[in-house]
Amino acid sequence: MTSPAAPRIVVTRGLPAATLRPLRDLGEVWISPHDRPLTSPELHEAVRGASAIVTMLTDRIDGDVLDAAGPSLRIVANTAVGYDNLDLTAFAHRGVLATNTPGVLIDATADLTMALLLTVTRRVAEGDRLIRSGTAWSWDISFMLGAGLQGKRIGIVGMGRIGRAVATRAAAFGMEVAYLARRPHTDPPDGAPLTLPELLATSDIVSLHCPLTAETHHLIDADALAAMKPGSFLVNTARGPIVDETALARALADGTIAGAALDVYEHEPEVHPDLRELDNVVLAPHLGSATVETRTRMAELAVENVRAVLTGAGPVTPIDLPVGSG
Ligand code: GLV
Ligand code: GLV
Repeated sequence: MTSPAAPRIVVTRGLPAATLRPLRDLGEVWISPHDRPLTSPELHEAVRGASAIVTMLTDRIDGDVLDAAGPSLRIVANTAVGYDNLDLTAFAHRGVLATNTPGVLIDATADLTMALLLTVTRRVAEGDRLIRSGTAWSWDISFMLGAGLQGKRIGIVGMGRIGRAVATRAAAFGMEVAYLARRPHTDPPDGAPLTLPELLATSDIVSLHCPLTAETHHLIDADALAAMKPGSFLVNTARGPIVDETALARALADGTIAGAALDVYEHEPEVHPDLRELDNVVLAPHLGSATVETRTRMAELAVENVRAVLTGAGPVTPIDLPVGSG
């Protein structure tokens, strides 16, 4: 039995059991029993008196949730590299630490990006649907032709670690790499640094790897889609709201672009109904980091952040909080 003074540690959704073990040595652990995200009232109730909360990207953590936890709260460890679900200003105001899981999901996400890119350009999911539908088919010189990748340009928006890992893979497939150069890189990547208009107008594939911020919300809107090269493809394994989904559905239906492959959605887990009707879009259910190895490492890193903070060390992978707001 832990003493009444033991810190309360809340885990908003099940993590691999072995990764939770270190938490049990630190305090009283509450793990959500639900196989779904907690509702907002459930979350408020669950976090009361917590010293640490391990969250998922499906949990919206704002000032109200932090206040519901109360003054004992020291850390929110988000089990994701993205953290647009955390209101960092509210964290700064209350002096609560936030951490994410960078570094451990780069390869898994870059691999999934290539899987989606190949699936949409080679019509793999469409072919799978055709066979399952029982439609008669036979090999034909012009049957279900897709687009080749060799010699094509991939335009990477968000040349961080995941963007660079995609660039390496794309180069191995014979693609020419270009990237959006919004600010100078200290370690400039291989490839052509372009402005957004240049990237959109000249890329055969546009692949998104930037975080969701006020600046990137609807970065790919109707105008951006219209500016894309005819016959080009869009891949989004970053965050749904970077793309205006209604505009995308229209651009796919009217042939403004040739196709899209999405792992993330504007109103996740809802998917725009028009997208579900289109054959030239591949729809994956947010699987970027979804390998056994990677998800285990993400959970371990989130738990390690909680352990470090509750034992008085600094967090392992802190998120920078906005300055001047505390
Ligand atoms: C997944 O989308 C993540 O941000 O880790
Ligand atoms: C991705 O950019 C990461 O740091 O994991």
